[in-house]
Amino acid sequence: MARHLITSALPYVNGVKHIGNLVGSMLPADVYARFLRQQGHEVLYICATDDHGTPAELGAAKEGVSVEDYCNTQHDIQADIYKRFELSFDHFGRTSRPQNHELTQHFAKKLMDNDYMEERTIRQFYSNTDKRFLPDRYIEGTCPYCKSEHARGDQCENCTKVLDPEQLINPRSAISGSTDVELRETRHLFLLQSKLQDKVAAWVDTNETWPALVKSIAKKWLTEGLHDRCITRDLVWGVPVPFDGYEGKVFYVWFDAPIGYISATKEWADAAPESRDWESWWHDAKDVTYTQFMAKDNVPFHTVTFPATIIGSGEPWKQVDFIKGFNWLTYYGGKFSTSRKVGIFTADALDLFPADYWRYVLMARAPEGDDSSFTWHEMQGLVNKDMCDVLGNLINRSMQFSVKKFGETVPQAGAWTALETAALAKTKALLEDFKTHMAQCEYRKSMSALRAIWVEGNQYITEAAPWTQIKTDPDRAAAILNFTMNYIRMIAIISFPVIPESSKMIASFLNVEIDAHAWLSDIEEEMTALEEGHPLKKPEILFRKIEDDIIATCEERFKAPVSKAA
Ligand code: MF3
Ligand code: ZN
Repeated sequence: MARHLITSALPYVNGVKHIGNLVGSMLPADVYARFLRQQGHEVLYICATDDHGTPAELGAAKEGVSVEDYCNTQHDIQADIYKRFELSFDHFGRTSRPQNHELTQHFAKKLMDNDYMEERTIRQFYSNTDKRFLPDRYIEGTCPYCKSEHARGDQCENCTKVLDPEQLINPRSAISGSTDVELRETRHLFLLQSKLQDKVAAWVDTNETWPALVKSIAKKWLTEGLHDRCITRDLVWGVPVPFDGYEGKVFYVWFDAPIGYISATKEWADAAPESRDWESWWHDAKDVTYTQFMAKDNVPFHTVTFPATIIGSGEPWKQVDFIKGFNWLTYYGGKFSTSRKVGIFTADALDLFPADYWRYVLMARAPEGDDSSFTWHEMQGLVNKDMCDVLGNLINRSMQFSVKKFGETVPQAGAWTALETAALAKTKALLEDFKTHMAQCEYRKSMSALRAIWVEGNQYITEAAPWTQIKTDPDRAAAILNFTMNYIRMIAIISFPVIPESSKMIASFLNVEIDAHAWLSDIEEEMTALEEGHPLKKPEILFRKIEDDIIATCEERFKAPVSKAA
């Protein structure tokens, strides 16, 4: 038994996320956490909303509410959605909690003490109308390159060029639209990442098991050289900077957000201090294996920037062991767009289909090797073929037949024939594959092994044909069904990390409980777990096929480029 710490990149608090966001961070982390718990490991799975930053402030302003109120509401909306997706966080915290304020200030003081931080005077736009500085997204104007009128202080979304606010033509406030803005001098803190370059590079090199995608992003940043970074802002919403002369300034959101992994663990412990010890997970925690999940745009912050903060603190904080980075899930090859409302948002997804449909489909098509395109037709295919025709069919036809012919108990076992031993030999190998791929967070491979086990069960009963056997040899028919009921129980256990609700439903047909902390012992032994006479229930429909007209409605409602779909 080992201790596993798992975190998903913290979703920005503003706005319901789309399914691309889910597949690149929270869902795979949940599948992994559930799998490891079943292997008997002690797992702590932590997530939180990333509450700070200008998008939260602008979102609140747009709705005419205070940032606090806005964040409270938005946090609760997201927490509810993730619960409905069956995400088994041990804690879903918030970076705006006091725990994060304290820890962020602690890190800043350590960095200052260790001479990895310094004050510099820079020029920032100030709005005379709004009586405030306009950092990051608060300043807009015309892009000097493409002349788009909606470029922001940090970047032009139209041509994607990274900008310095001073480059903007006709700069204006994003709050009031006022052009009465001027450049003023203001003092800020810089994290001296250039001084930490060698230490970060040496640490990156110790991580031999990172996937190629993650390693190459880290190397690219290190080769370009780490730049000193301004980590404070003239804003009110955020973690206050705890130094004299910094009243009214807060830390930049990307400084405090990853510290949120630690502080959310502290929130978890503070809720039950007698039995939970957050420091044992984060301080000098050599026995802990720490795995992070994120999409590729987040990788630089987790391989280089946050490690620089940790290394610069000089304290023995737990560093990440394995980073699972994802490519993009696209919508018919194009980008999901929150602003243009293109793609599928998590709340709508749940209104359409049960969480398990999404969980299986998204994991089976996880954007691992490359970007992966979501289409409604592909979703329909996976649900109808894998879930309905294979898994659902196996369970419904065998259990219905068993209950009809032998009543609501498991029929009598019999000696295994070549059919059973062959099925078990195949299953054993597939189970090994499944376990290996799951342990390596290789989702596409894991899902195809899992599906192959479903297929194996379905093929077994087709070949064994109890419906034919019963006419001449009822004992053999009973034995086949006994074997099948046990095979189905095994499937319910191993499918639990991916489709937990369905697994529980299958278990309920068999009158057994899924133990979230137990896996299979020897496969032959598992095939004798349900003995003759064990009560059964008549199964209900497990999965429903997605009809063509539903797909057509989805394509229309979610603006799918239908021409490409056919
Ligand atoms: N909120 C960021 C995003 O969605 C991710 C923050 S991850 C953390 O891109 F480590 F900083 F918390
Ligand atoms: Zn531009």
